[in-house]
Amino acid sequence: MDTPRFPSVAFEEMNALHAREAERLGRVRALVDEARSGQERHRAIGDALAVWLAEVRAHFAAEEGWMREADFGPYELHRSEHAKALRELDALVRNWHHAPDLERLAVFVEFEWPLWQEQHIISFDATAAQYLRHRGGGDP
Ligand SMILES: [Fe+2]
Ligand SMILES: [Fe+2]
Repeated sequence: MDTPRFPSVAFEEMNALHAREAERLGRVRALVDEARSGQERHRAIGDALAVWLAEVRAHFAAEEGWMREADFGPYELHRSEHAKALRELDALVRNWHHAPDLERLAVFVEFEWPLWQEQHIISFDATAAQYLRHRGGGDP
């Protein structure tokens, strides 16, 4: 497992957020791989999960700030998608500390989250990015 690549959108600042998040997620995935091959990585995974979670929060908050500022219509729907995903990620991170389940975590970081993120980028971020770029381009 390595750093995932997310689809790119029309707003560079958003692509930069996605790339940074992918990098943090890649770090978690690499550690999960090492743990699966028998190395002791419990604490390192906990630390990497915290860094990733913080990045996801920053990523969502930045997008929400841009959308609010630009008065983007579907803001509320987009924000609720973020909130739902964050709740799930937050629960997963908490579980890692209370009842760690390496295989559950592996499925989440390898498949569930990247698939959700990709779908979210295609269906929500891409539209917001078009709008933000238009606004940022100085159009009336
Ligand atoms: Fe995004
Ligand atoms: Fe988003």
